[in-house]
Amino acid sequence: MPGATSSLLCHVRIRILGSAAGGGFPQWNCHCGTCEAARAGERARPRTQSSLAISGSEGPWFLVNASPDARQQLEALSPRHVEGVRSPPVAGVLLTDAEIDHTAGLLLLRESATPVRVFGDEGVERALRSGYPVLEILERYCGAEWRTLEPGRSCALEGSSLAVEPFEAGGDAPRYMSGSDGELQASGFVFRDRAGEVLTYVPGLARLDDGVLGRFAASDVVLVDGTFWRDDELARLGISARSAREMGHLPLSGPGGTLEALAGLEGPRKVLVHINNTNPILLEDSPEREAVLRAGVEVSYDGLEIEL
Ligand code: MLT
Ligand code: MN
Ligand code: ZN
Repeated sequence: MPGATSSLLCHVRIRILGSAAGGGFPQWNCHCGTCEAARAGERARPRTQSSLAISGSEGPWFLVNASPDARQQLEALSPRHVEGVRSPPVAGVLLTDAEIDHTAGLLLLRESATPVRVFGDEGVERALRSGYPVLEILERYCGAEWRTLEPGRSCALEGSSLAVEPFEAGGDAPRYMSGSDGELQASGFVFRDRAGEVLTYVPGLARLDDGVLGRFAASDVVLVDGTFWRDDELARLGISARSAREMGHLPLSGPGGTLEALAGLEGPRKVLVHINNTNPILLEDSPEREAVLRAGVEVSYDGLEIEL
């Protein structure tokens, strides 16, 4: 049926490739209650590290953030066109930040038969050329074509009906930059399709101001930082003295937390991404999970597909 085929192609599609934060779930060296529950196969499902794929009403898939689990994640994606024996399933990689969990996957793309197209802001490029020079490395294997994104400016994605507009989401430089770059912060992305649909994706959200809330309100779907439940989550488990806020992630709970803001947001579908392995919302029967659902917010999982 030709009608059935074309209706499949006329939607914006998003696939959550990895719904966990850095370390994945369970994390290799972690014996916290949630990681042990995932290992036991009870009350929580395992998750790979933060990444998604998006395609417009027309055009190919794009990878948004390249996680250390990119090999298996890309294997789950059906390519739109296969041209030749070596044909990539995505037309490019967009980076919200230069953190290891969002960029280590770039190394795994070195087998590409064509230069890998990578999009990010100036700060991300600086980090990936100086602190962790993965762009230089890729250049020697398959080639890398860098495309600079500017905050607040929409950039059409070649070959696609989508455009992407980055906005500043706060936070700080990756730790491998050793605090040497005060300018560096994470971005969120607003994707707009020519057909009118709007998706906002912000896996690292340190600042919930009117600008960010306005972008959320103008979206059909928001995919939002769900890293930590509490600000002192890691300290209480004896894992780290750093607070959620110090790590560039507003906690979900409490006054000024993300859940409160999302609960008050009427229009868009609201979905949490980038969930740390310590976060009790990962336990399907926890009161924290129930509080998220009561706020009208979903907890994403690997393989979740959203059509707009
Ligand atoms: C983050 O999201 O804050 C970072 O990915 C943390 C890290 O990987 O060190
Ligand atoms: Mn991260
Ligand atoms: Zn854990």
